[in-house]
Amino acid sequence: MDKFVIEGPTPLKGTIPISGSKNAALPLMAAALLGHTSSRLSLIPRLQDIDTFNRVIAETGTTIHFNGKENSLVIDPSGLSNTIAPYDLVRKMRASFYMLGALIGHAGEAKVSLPGGCAWGPRPVDLHLQGFEKMGVRIKLDQGYVFASIPGNSVEGGEFTLEPSSVGATINLVLGAVKRAKFFVIKNAAQEPDVVLLCRMLQKMGADIEGIGTDTLTIRKVEKLEGVEFSNAPDRIETGTYMIAAALHPESEVTLTGCKPEDLGDFPRTFSKLGVDFQIDGSTIFIRSAENIHPVSIKTKIYPGFPTDLQAQWATLMTQANGLSTVTDTVYFDRFSYVPELNRLGANLRVEKNNVTIHGKTKLIGAAVMSTDLRASVSLVMAGLVAEGTSEILRVYHLDRGYEKLEDKLNRVGASIKRVVQ
Ligand code: EPZ
Repeated sequence: MDKFVIEGPTPLKGTIPISGSKNAALPLMAAALLGHTSSRLSLIPRLQDIDTFNRVIAETGTTIHFNGKENSLVIDPSGLSNTIAPYDLVRKMRASFYMLGALIGHAGEAKVSLPGGCAWGPRPVDLHLQGFEKMGVRIKLDQGYVFASIPGNSVEGGEFTLEPSSVGATINLVLGAVKRAKFFVIKNAAQEPDVVLLCRMLQKMGADIEGIGTDTLTIRKVEKLEGVEFSNAPDRIETGTYMIAAALHPESEVTLTGCKPEDLGDFPRTFSKLGVDFQIDGSTIFIRSAENIHPVSIKTKIYPGFPTDLQAQWATLMTQANGLSTVTDTVYFDRFSYVPELNRLGANLRVEKNNVTIHGKTKLIGAAVMSTDLRASVSLVMAGLVAEGTSEILRVYHLDRGYEKLEDKLNRVGASIKRVVQ
């Protein structure tokens, strides 16, 4: 298992290009299976999770080809003959569960493995299954698999309220409904940009969806969807991650290119409270850090609130702020596996229920630390950038799942990260 050896502290100076969004690409790939003809997706990042989903999709007999030079993906579902998503692949990447909606939409039946938990605890899918049952899909659980089928080629549909609002459940239900449900209303639907982009692609394919971008989606079945050319969005979580990284060292000056600032929700407003200089100009974001970072307490929320996928990175930054701050996660109540690792580097964080209290400013000293999940891992890499001396970040395969060319992008702007293959 590879590790990163990081020498710090180093300021970051230069330009970082933002890649395509992991969490937006996955639903677009699933939507392509609903097309009568091939779809071509662009701005697809080269990531472990994308590769895993490619294999899940190829398992069905669908032809899928990733062009690494162009970062594009061509998906031709005409050969789709196997409506199974097997455990050994689904367990590797939770979003493979989108195959349930895609296969119900494409074939009216599916056998999909239940996803496992993840590094920070159980990740239920009860809302997905309840929503499909409400839609009129027959759902049976047996030996860790979901068996789904519909009588005939459509279901009456109905109305379903998500409690809590769920990105994955919204995506799965939309995928299943657009070709199968005569009339289906999803209330308290997720409004993340990833959901909006999926609905836009389905609309371009010919789907009938009303309320896109609101918390109520109304879907009416259409007989056929056509394959399309469609562009993925830049990764909003990668953008937020590098904005935070650029604020860590007082002498950093970083330009992010290829961004989609409108997908960042309320994050820029929170970021502006740090006291660092930053400007948004079209798809470019410029950050110049400062000697004195203000402590800014945050509470994660569903979009457009502070994203839970940025809370670990924010906690690392708060170790360098002058004063006390708190990070509260209201979406996942136990997503704090990075805390003991940051404390090994000399930080002073204390977890109480779903809150972390952070004492800043603390000098971080390099040490060996363990990655546990994608966002916790990147928060440790960021800590290594400002820690005095050598830090070793073990199990960096977590990073390879969700950050395209991470060490390359950071080394080009002055970081000193060496990947050691073990
Ligand atoms: C998506 O996960 C993202 N993953 C996550 O990013 C992100 O943290 C999360 O949304 C929240 O924004 C992808 O897009 C692939 P949810 P998802 O369903 O869809 C509860 C990353 O780091 N819930 O919106 O699984 C759930 O427990 C990943 O890139 C149920 O109770 O998240 C949580 O408390 C990590 N029952 C809340 O809803 C269900 O059936 C929100 O989860 C489904 C969810």
